[in-house]
Amino acid sequence: MVRYTVLIAEDAERPSYSLLQFTSTMLSDLWLRLSIFVTDRSRAAFLRGAGIVVFVLLVLLTIIAIPHSASNVKTASPSEYAVIPSNFADPCLLSVDGMFYAFATRPNPSLHVQVASAKDISDWTLHEGYDAMPTLPKWALQEGDAAVWAPEVVQRPDGNFVLYFSAASQANSRFHCVGTATSPNVTGPYTPVEEPLTCPFDQGGAIDPTFIHDRRQNTSFVVYKNDGNAIGSGGACANGNWPNTPTSFQFNIVDNEDYTTRIGNDSWNPLGNASWVLFSDESDGPNIESPQIFYRGDAMGRFAAAGDDSAYHLIYNAGCFADESYRIEHIVCRATQLNAVSTQWASYDATYVPFFRDCRFAAMKPENYKSWGQSFLVLNDGVGNHFDLLLRTGIFRQPDGAGVQLYAPGGPAISQDGSYMAFHADISRDWFEGRSPDRIRALFVAELEYGRKGTGLRIKRLIKPTSKI
Ligand SMILES: *[C@@H]1O[C@H](CO)[C@@H](O)[C@H](O)[C@H]1NC(C)=O
Ligand SMILES: *[C@@H]1O[C@H](CO)[C@@H](O)[C@H](O)[C@H]1NC(C)=O
Ligand SMILES: *[C@@H]1O[C@H](CO)[C@@H](O)[C@H](O)[C@H]1NC(C)=O
Ligand SMILES: *[C@@H]1O[C@H](CO)[C@@H](O)[C@H](O)[C@H]1NC(C)=O
Repeated sequence: MVRYTVLIAEDAERPSYSLLQFTSTMLSDLWLRLSIFVTDRSRAAFLRGAGIVVFVLLVLLTIIAIPHSASNVKTASPSEYAVIPSNFADPCLLSVDGMFYAFATRPNPSLHVQVASAKDISDWTLHEGYDAMPTLPKWALQEGDAAVWAPEVVQRPDGNFVLYFSAASQANSRFHCVGTATSPNVTGPYTPVEEPLTCPFDQGGAIDPTFIHDRRQNTSFVVYKNDGNAIGSGGACANGNWPNTPTSFQFNIVDNEDYTTRIGNDSWNPLGNASWVLFSDESDGPNIESPQIFYRGDAMGRFAAAGDDSAYHLIYNAGCFADESYRIEHIVCRATQLNAVSTQWASYDATYVPFFRDCRFAAMKPENYKSWGQSFLVLNDGVGNHFDLLLRTGIFRQPDGAGVQLYAPGGPAISQDGSYMAFHADISRDWFEGRSPDRIRALFVAELEYGRKGTGLRIKRLIKPTSKI
């Protein structure tokens, strides 16, 4: 078997190594195939002959490959691919009336929510100095830095827009709550709802909200991270020492019409205690965060026959956001398998069996990573569900072979149709190496590609900004 993994697990420091390994794997594969056709008597002579030919070929390829990979495989710096080169972290991405919009964490405490827009996915404009939510709700910290983080905007059925965000709580500024705000205009200004959606202080508070309407169940969810890092075990990102304080993706069900009224409360929801979408484990490092959940497939959210591409996708960060272990991961849950899986939950109230239960994302997560990036070709956990390490610090390969250097990619956000992913990544290593006091997490956009039959997802290419073409 040709081991594509070798090509994929490309390493920044050794570009020619994987090419050579791949070549030799291919050649030995060819050799094995050819030798099947050779009779026993001539086999020894054939193998000797073939061995010499392969050896000579390998030597030649080594001579060609080393200077080739060193000189011709150009690696672009992050700044050549940043669509917004300034600090624009934890983005969300949506398209409205033919325009793309991205909202992001504030660049400084005086501005709460940043906005950028684009007529064309490669041509972004930062609305510099504009604040999409100039007024904070009373529950948020009134004096000092309310630390408004990770906004997400969605359009609800009545045409109005809802902004989800987290901010430090006035009642306990150590912790964040998730709040909501609304506006008739996508760019705002957004008017905050005076009650927070959730404030689980005993779990470190809540951050990184995301919304999903599950068409199959006609139910709306706000999913968020319990901020275990705020009551962490110390070490990397204040929670790197194992055993650490768990982080998890939890949800509240919200009203299908206004998207902001919570159904149930923090200690109880209609699903009882089973309110986890995914729970962190040791392999995740200090946390999991920045979840995005989306459904792709039949427009009605139905589950078609086996072979259908319908699937739920969960994309999120693992690793410490303050070092280069930060990475974007993906778990897919194939809709065609839901029925089989959901029988395990037969003892629960059938009225409220959401996809989280059916999918059991946690059960699909392998313990060890074997590959990263363009991995749906090789990663299969045997049940047909897939786990992919989508992006990490390293060189991303464009389809034409050109490399793009990425540092600590994070904050993934998916457009409504699932075709693009916005994310942030450091513009350089300066902050990590102490050369700069200010961290610049710039905005990037990638085009996504899906495997057939819900088999996975990969980054097809990074979008190069129009200004750099
Ligand atoms: C929405 O706000 C933008 C400015 O951000 C403005 O140009 C536009 O006219 C507004 N649209 C509506 C419908 O208010
Ligand atoms: C979904 O639920 C809402 C109420 O929450 C209801 O008004 C609507 O008709 C439902 N839609 C479908 C397709 O069942
Ligand atoms: C949460 O809601 C449940 C069910 O309505 C109720 O029994 C419980 O007392 C509520 N808890 C709080 C803290 O409000
Ligand atoms: C919820 O959790 C509590 C404490 O862990 C447990 O006693 C209770 O049985 C659980 N309820 C359900 C419905 O699982």
